[in-house]
Parts: sequence; C-alpha cells; structure tokens
Amino acid sequence: MSKILVTGGCGYIGSHTLVDLIDNGFDVISIDNLINSSADILEGVKAITGKTVQNYPVDLCDKAATQAVFRAHPDIAGVIHFAALKYVGESVEKPLLYFRNNLDSLLNVLECMVEFGVKNIIFSSSCSVYGNATELPVTESTPFQTAESPYARTKQMGEQILEDVCFQEKGLNAVILRYFNPGGAHESTLIGEAATAATNLVPVITETAAGKRASMTVFGADYPTRDGSCVRDYIHVMDLANAHTKAVQYLLADHQEKNCEVYNLGIGEGVTVLEAIYAFEAVSGVKLNYEIGPRRAGDVVAIYANNNLATSRLGWHAKRGITDIMRTAWAWQQKRK
Ligand code: NAD
Ligand code: WQD
Repeated sequence: MSKILVTGGCGYIGSHTLVDLIDNGFDVISIDNLINSSADILEGVKAITGKTVQNYPVDLCDKAATQAVFRAHPDIAGVIHFAALKYVGESVEKPLLYFRNNLDSLLNVLECMVEFGVKNIIFSSSCSVYGNATELPVTESTPFQTAESPYARTKQMGEQILEDVCFQEKGLNAVILRYFNPGGAHESTLIGEAATAATNLVPVITETAAGKRASMTVFGADYPTRDGSCVRDYIHVMDLANAHTKAVQYLLADHQEKNCEVYNLGIGEGVTVLEAIYAFEAVSGVKLNYEIGPRRAGDVVAIYANNNLATSRLGWHAKRGITDIMRTAWAWQQKRK
C-alpha cells in the first residue's frame, strides 16, 4: 500500500481527495496548519472511509518542522501539494503574504523531497494561469497571459519552479494539474466546502438559497456570450479528487515517460452564470433571489478546458456535470444550517 503525503488535506479539495485515495487503496497522511480549515473535516473522512487520517498541523513555510514529518515517514511514495492560500481578492490586498506562503511552502516541500528521496509530486495549479486566454477551449499549450492577480502569479511561478527543478533533478517527476472551477460535495454530505465568507459562485448560490445572504448579484450580463453572463467550466470536486488518484497511479507506474507534465482538469464545457443559477433552481426547487449587477473587476469573459490530455494519458473522465455540482453543494449547505 503506497503512502501519499497530502498537504492541505483538511481543505476543500484535499479532504475529498483523501477519500478517493483511501477508496483506491492508498495509505495517506496530511500536513495542514489549519490556517483556512479545521481538522474536524477528518471526522467526515473517517465516517466515509473508516480510516483515521493523521494530520500534522505544521506550517510548510517552517522547513525544520516539514523535514521532521518527512523524516518520520521514510516510505512516502509521493506528495500531493494542495496547501496554499487561494483567495484572489485577498491576494491583491496582501501580495507578500501570498508569495511568501505559496512559494516558500512549495520550495520547502521540494527541498524535502530531494533530501529524503521522494520522487513524485502533484501540484495544484489553476486555470487562472491562462489569464485572458487567447483561444477557447484552452489546451495545456495555450500561452499564459498576464496573471490577473498575485494569487494567479503564484501558480504561474509554482509551475515554472517545478519545471526547472524537475529538469535538473532527473529522478523527480511532477504532474501539474490546472483546475478550472471546482464545486459540489461528497455524495454522503459528510464532507464539503467548509470555508466561510466564500466569494465563488457555487457557495454564493447555495448560501443565498439558504437565507444566509439576502440576495446575490450576477456580475455582468452584457458580455459577448450566449446569455450575456460569463462562461466557466465547473468541475465536481469528486471528479477532481479522482484525477489526483489517477495522476498518482500514473506517476507510480514504471513504464511511463514522465518528468514534468501538465493537465487541464475541467469537464470541457462552458456554463454561463445564468445557466448555473437555472441548474440550481431546477435541482433544488428553490427560486433564487438574484439581480443583474455590474461586471466584477478582473473577470475573464469565458474560459473552459480542452481535457483530452487528461483523458488519454491519465485515463480520467469526469462523470458529473453542473446539476450534480448544484445538487451535492445544496445537500451539503442544508446539512450545515
Ligand atoms: P483550501 O483553502 O480549502 O485548502 C488549502 C489548505 O491548505 C487549507 O486547509 C489550509 O489550511 C492549508 N494551508 C495553506 N497554507 C499552508 C501552509 N503554509 N502550511 C500548511 N497548510 C497550509 O483550498 P482548496 O480549494 O482545497 O484548494 C486546494 C488547492 O487547489 C490550492 O492550492 C488552490 O490554490 C488550488 N485551486 C483551488 C481552486 C478552487 O476554486 N478551490 C481552483 C484552482 C486551484
Ligand atoms: C465564477 C463566475 C463570476 C460570484 C476563481 C479564481 C480561479 C479559481 C476558481 C483558484 C464568474 C460569477 C461569482 C457571484 C457572480 N480559483 N459570479 N456572482 O472567478 O471564475 O475563478 O475561482 O484557483 O483561479 O479566479 O470563480 O466562482 O468567483 O466566479 O456572478 O456572487 O461567477 O463573475 O463569472 P472564478 P468564481
């Protein structure tokens, strides 16, 4: 049973990935300093899988503490590095915090991997690396445009760091996964997106429907899209989680040519903001209180993925769509009331 170190294992995508890894026979440990999460989520992981996951509440910017975890686990076969700060708006206000946290943590993880001979890493990147993409759907070779935020820049820089380190450290293999717009929750509703004060569309919709917000705003309906609202590629968090399991299996298989590879993780279809709202209303039976408002600064008009590479090389397929995202996100929201 291969052991995988999951950083950020108490976060939204990390916790769902722990479940999928355990379901697929992996042994897992987590490092998460709980800056944006709670270890309570591991109770949900245990309720689903029957396994207790050990979390080390270590700041990955603390090299000595990070080394101690690697030292205690000489059998780590690979690292999935989720841990990062992820709020676009906050990153504009606090760029130094974002560069320090997201880059130092990655550098420390990589230095520990070299020191302790761990060969495989999966890195959480984001479609925000493409900026205002020049072509749609975006493929992995669509060139990066200027990052729209310091957060997005930390992901562009993280990818470049991995490319250079893997080029030099020949035994080190990386899979970079560019997530589009994750949403939804595990079917059991024992885990889900636990963050408060969310600004992402899916939690804003469910919190509005639950009465936690009086109303919500559609940020612009005058874009050159089929109904005037922005287009995104919404991917269910359990499909996203499973892509990590597939990527781990790919990295651990001997016969593959690897080193440093990049994969888009979206379902390959664009959904407008208004279509997402209609999908929610249809699946929940709740009429949402929303208004059309002005555009939000920094929003790209449209972005969705070409995911052919993840399908053909990793053998990954998204099984869920916007309706499943809304259904499970709503079930999770209602449970938390
Ligand atoms: P999250 O905030 O729920 O999880 C990240 C976890 O990392 C948190 O539990 C936090 O406590 C932990 N963490 C942060 N800095 C740390 C540090 N220095 N040391 C130890 N732990 C630390 O976020 P998420 O939505 O699960 O995102 C996971 C990854 O995916 C992040 O790298 C994020 O940038 C990336 N990503 C997320 C989205 C999205 O919309 N959720 C989209 C694209 C990419
Ligand atoms: C989606 C659409 C909004 C809220 C961000 C990051 C990206 C990635 C995912 C981390 C947009 C519209 C939203 C609301 C709205 N995260 N919207 N009313 O901006 O596509 O991507 O999260 O890597 O890097 O940039 O996601 O969920 O904020 O917005 O109309 O109250 O919903 O304008 O068109 P976004 P989002």
